[in-house]
Amino acid sequence: MTARKIIIDTDPGQDDAVAILLALASPDEIEVLGITCVAGNVPLALTQKNARIVCELAGKPDVKVFSGADRPMNRTLVTAEHVHGKTGLDGPTLPDPAMLLQDGHAVDYIIDTLRAYESGTVTLCPLGPLTNIAMAFEKAPDIKERVQEIILMGGGYFEGGNITPSAEFNIYVDPQAADIVFKSEIPIVVMPLDVTHKALVTKSRNDAFRTIGTPVGHAVAEMTDFFERFDKEKYGSEGAPLHDPCVTAYLIRPNLFKGRHINVEIETQSELTMGATVADWWRVSDRAPNALFIGDLDADGFFSLLTERLARL
Ligand code: RIB
Ligand code: CA
Repeated sequence: MTARKIIIDTDPGQDDAVAILLALASPDEIEVLGITCVAGNVPLALTQKNARIVCELAGKPDVKVFSGADRPMNRTLVTAEHVHGKTGLDGPTLPDPAMLLQDGHAVDYIIDTLRAYESGTVTLCPLGPLTNIAMAFEKAPDIKERVQEIILMGGGYFEGGNITPSAEFNIYVDPQAADIVFKSEIPIVVMPLDVTHKALVTKSRNDAFRTIGTPVGHAVAEMTDFFERFDKEKYGSEGAPLHDPCVTAYLIRPNLFKGRHINVEIETQSELTMGATVADWWRVSDRAPNALFIGDLDADGFFSLLTERLARL
């Protein structure tokens, strides 16, 4: 099986960091062509630094990292330091990156890469607000038909929202960008809160990360120790939901996940429900299905895969 060529678009973020580590630990299944950074959990200056910190933690300083949009397409940036800490990677003490950012803007890298590779062979894996992706589609509409698939973390239906009662953070930050992506007619797999809230890092699962005994294992355990306090307090959950690693785990072992091919549209008008993912789970509308909306996962299988792969770094 040839490795899946992907671009990870990200706003690290502890859970983004684990998703990136999982991808870099799985070269047989995933070829990370590049990482593009976007403002989200924390401002762009930090997300582009954190992405490089994570690549160096993985021992992969040659990964191409690009800086992208520092704000949503036409809304004010909303960040989430209350969840991720002021650095965005609070928890472990990790050295500043030595590796440099690539020249050029992330949006241009996405466009150039999709034009350079054979059509239908590059997958986009957005883990944050969809600003870079939507800007690339607006600037170069020809690339949309060249995308193999989009596998993204975002949205929620049965779980509602996590930044407002009706919206999940990634979609809420840039609803217009999300609307462009969900109307792109590209095959999309969505990892919403409905599934990511079932990927909880319980104490025994975090102990398993620590027991790996490597700098990666300790760093992930310390990231989780920090990251989990918000969700445990808010939801009374048993641990932190590992949102973004669901995206990269799906690429490696899709049968860990279950969902439905349904219509998903984005609220972009009402401030009350701005950024809501209106998922027609029960197919009550005549709107055409445009996304595989994931609702469930084999959590034990997910964590055993994740722990085994992190131990490889
Ligand atoms: O709502 C969860 C999502 O928002 C995750 O991608 C997290 O990293 C933040 O970006
Ligand atoms: Ca993220």
